[in-house]
Amino acid sequence: MIYRTIQGSRVPALGFGTYQITGPSCRNAVADALNIGYRHIDTAQIYRNEAEVGEAISGSGIPREDIFLTTKVWLDNLAPADVHSSTRESLRKLQTDYVDLLLIHWPNESAAPLEETLDALDELKNAGHTRHIGVSNFTPSMVERAVNHTTIFCNQVEYHPLLAQETLLKLAREHGMLLTAYSPIARGKVLESSTLQQIGSTHGKSPVQVALRWLLQQENVAAIPKAESADHRRSNFDVFDFELSDEEMQRIDQMQAGKRLVNPGFAPAWEK
Ligand SMILES: NC(=O)c1ccc[n+]([C@@H]2O[C@H](COP(=O)([O-])OP(=O)(O)OC[C@H]3O[C@@H](n4cnc5c(N)ncnc54)[C@H](OP(=O)(O)O)[C@@H]3O)[C@@H](O)[C@H]2O)c1
Repeated sequence: MIYRTIQGSRVPALGFGTYQITGPSCRNAVADALNIGYRHIDTAQIYRNEAEVGEAISGSGIPREDIFLTTKVWLDNLAPADVHSSTRESLRKLQTDYVDLLLIHWPNESAAPLEETLDALDELKNAGHTRHIGVSNFTPSMVERAVNHTTIFCNQVEYHPLLAQETLLKLAREHGMLLTAYSPIARGKVLESSTLQQIGSTHGKSPVQVALRWLLQQENVAAIPKAESADHRRSNFDVFDFELSDEEMQRIDQMQAGKRLVNPGFAPAWEK
């Protein structure tokens, strides 16, 4: 495993995403991921799978402190009272007293001004219900506003070889934050890239493994690929026995095509 040390905490740079895995399949997937060696699990209130994630973690026998667990407060729950009540509910479902990281899933100031939501998250942090707080899908100016108000551990955003995130990455490094790459393999689209295929063939690796490795070789970056298939889970974890050269890293940097896959109607106006 590769780790990031962010604000004194060690985070496994490769995590396991659980969006769209629900019910028994989610319990099995997370249990299997933990068995493979994943120690960073990403869920969210809106995924409707926190209970299954919690069952898998508590059934694994792995000490809670050995797992980095993230959940996200949904955009309807950003008023301070709702941040508190929905997080209490998340912790109950997750069968834990605390998460490692509690994120604002999407910005939504129609629920509450950002600063009030952040204050509520800080209250939860001070009460020991989360070790860190952070944001997701925040633009550069929103990140600036958040870090001007309080300590932000992470911004979780879409990031893969087809979508550059230079400004957010620079900001994350300047402020000692983690940038967690969601949809890190562009939901499978990286498989079609001849550049990744070529680079992979020289290392005996798949385009997906090359894309994940490219993320893991970037400072302050973590990646959370989702895989309902056991084969995918296993092969996505098999990325620690090879290294991309500087030239290969640059070739992948150049693939950037501004291809954003996650852009719902409530998304903010993305900035450059
Ligand atoms: N903060 C946010 O707003 C936000 C938004 C989106 C995602 N996320 C988080 O990020 C995680 C990952 O993002 P994502 O689920 O959007 O996309 P992703 O991880 O880029 O891609 C997942 C897709 O790729 C397939 N796949 C996985 N490994 C593969 C492999 N080795 N070879 C071929 N195909 C493979 C999966 O198939 P199978 O499942 O069939 O194995 C699934 O269809 C989510 O699960 C969630 O935790 C957060």
